[in-house]
Amino acid sequence: MSSQIDHLLNETRRFAPSAEFAANAVADASLYERAAADREGFWADQARELHWHTPFTTVLDWSNPPFAEWFADGELNVAYNCLDRHVEAGNGDRIALRWEGEPGDRRNVTYAELTDEVKRLSNVLLDLGVERGDRVAIYLPMIPEAIASMLAVARIGAVHSVVFGGFSADSLRARIDDAGAKLVITADGGWRKGKVSPLKPAVDQALADRNGSGIQETVEHVLVIKRGENDVEWTDDRDIWWHDVVPQASSDHEAEAFPAENPLFILYTSGTTGKPKGILHTSGGYLTQAAFTNRVVHDVHPETDVYWCTADIGWITGHTYVAYGPLANGATQLLFEGTPDTPHPGRWWELIQNHGVTIFYTAPTAIRSFMKIGRDVPQGFDLSSLRLLGSVGEPINPEAWVWYRDIIGGDRAPIVDTWWQTETGAIMISALPGVTETKPGSAQVPLPGISVDVVDDAGEHVGHGNGGLLVITEPWPSMLRGIWGDPERFVETYWKKFADKGYYFAGDGARLDDDGDVWLLGRVDDVMNVSGHRLSTAEIESALVGHEGVAEAAVVGASDETTGQAVVAFVIIKSRYMKKNGVDGLGDVLRRWVGEQIGPIARPRDVYIVGELPKTRSGKIMRRLLRDVAEGREVGDTTTLADTAVMSVISAQVK
Ligand code: WTA
Repeated sequence: MSSQIDHLLNETRRFAPSAEFAANAVADASLYERAAADREGFWADQARELHWHTPFTTVLDWSNPPFAEWFADGELNVAYNCLDRHVEAGNGDRIALRWEGEPGDRRNVTYAELTDEVKRLSNVLLDLGVERGDRVAIYLPMIPEAIASMLAVARIGAVHSVVFGGFSADSLRARIDDAGAKLVITADGGWRKGKVSPLKPAVDQALADRNGSGIQETVEHVLVIKRGENDVEWTDDRDIWWHDVVPQASSDHEAEAFPAENPLFILYTSGTTGKPKGILHTSGGYLTQAAFTNRVVHDVHPETDVYWCTADIGWITGHTYVAYGPLANGATQLLFEGTPDTPHPGRWWELIQNHGVTIFYTAPTAIRSFMKIGRDVPQGFDLSSLRLLGSVGEPINPEAWVWYRDIIGGDRAPIVDTWWQTETGAIMISALPGVTETKPGSAQVPLPGISVDVVDDAGEHVGHGNGGLLVITEPWPSMLRGIWGDPERFVETYWKKFADKGYYFAGDGARLDDDGDVWLLGRVDDVMNVSGHRLSTAEIESALVGHEGVAEAAVVGASDETTGQAVVAFVIIKSRYMKKNGVDGLGDVLRRWVGEQIGPIARPRDVYIVGELPKTRSGKIMRRLLRDVAEGREVGDTTTLADTAVMSVISAQVK
């Protein structure tokens, strides 16, 4: 990490906002002053931008930390705020979703049409016995029905748990079981890389006979959208085609008001153990910060902009900046089903050109892979509509930042590098476009109303020019309200480390520069960040040892030019298995195995078969040393190992 820090220290380029951008920007510097003078009053003002069926009289209740309540005596309906409100204001004809499927099929969905669809679906969900507080799993491709599903669940006060369509049947099952979902909404399949990728079979498999598992089936129905037109198996009393029930349903549905702290969704994310955590978000505070940040950070002008966030709804970025933020603001957005390189490497740039995209929000991994392909691909398209670029999910290196600005942004569009997490619910650290002079590679400053610090192990501020751990020092509206079913883990994971200070521990290393701006340096725990997706080392290790041939496994995130980090596995093979099967091709077998167990994103880049793993005397695997090997560096200090010779053996085996 030290070479990375040195490199960042040398970054002195600065980009001041243009006068033209500043003149029309949603944000202005007075937001900081207002928030500094009265933080809670500032957030109350932002919350009042929403429609409250019952106005709140209290802002923050922090009497039982770390369990916060925001706007607790207010009542609202999240879907009403994202839909009906715009229709009632006369904007029903505005396009909410400019959807394009991977094969190039298109559909525009207006706010009036989306509202209508969500009302029908709400009635269907109620008919299927889904009640307030029930959980609904959503396992869908990026189609308008996915957004409608999230909103309909929210509209009736139920709780959605969206599972990324790239996750395996096993991962889906674990999430369905943990949440106790009553209904699953899925599709036959979706388009991915030029062909239909089936989804329904994974749901069938996840719900198949759990003989001896001891887990009770909670799912009563599976609602299936026809998208891929692939053949699917059918369970008559369980499965229902969307097209048999939704179009026929009544579009009369009045949005009921729910308390601000009514749970809105659970989203599973990787932690430091093998079991994903169900991050719980609630309604009023979440929607307040989602809408506010989308407005000021993405500079959304709903009447004129075409906004595009490339994230899948299976991730938090897709929740906050595809579903909730832009719709709460009444924006028009592009929704795209496919991948960046199908059917040609310029697909994204073609979409920007054809849809006149003005605001573009994506991940550094994508930018780096475009850099690798070369500038002539984007330069073959007209990208002059773009006026703001955003980055999210992992640190963006200054070279990628500058390339993004030059080649995609025409050296004109400002870049906002936005730091946040599934747990924070919405953006926390970012430049404000039109206000902040930007620095390539730095997320820079906490947003108005947000307080962060970089501290040492004892929780003391490190001072400008120093590195340490990133903490959030005050509660914020869209903060997670807990881990589903596990309040102890919530306290333990985020609040215990700096309990005496009451700080939230983010798990990220960071440095403050001489101006006090924040530079993110990556995770300090056993969480990896591969292409902006969070993966846990423990989760992949447990998948590996689930294979009959594997005795032990250690997984590390090694730095990778394109994906940020890559999964590298070191495995010890059972001698009996080795005698019987040999090791030829075993690396590939294990890579595939992990892909099947968790999902293709978790597939290791490299699998090394070794005789031993480096362990301390207390038996803890020293991943730091394995990372040295995986990154081709000289191995660091081995003196705390139980057997100091083991690393030279491993290095030789890897070579
Ligand atoms: C990392 C994604 C540097 C960080 C929204 C964090 C970032 C984790 C940035 C959360 C950024 C996210 N610069 N690192 N702009 N944005 N991260 O939960 O390590 O999928 O802890 O949320 O991504 O990942 P998650």
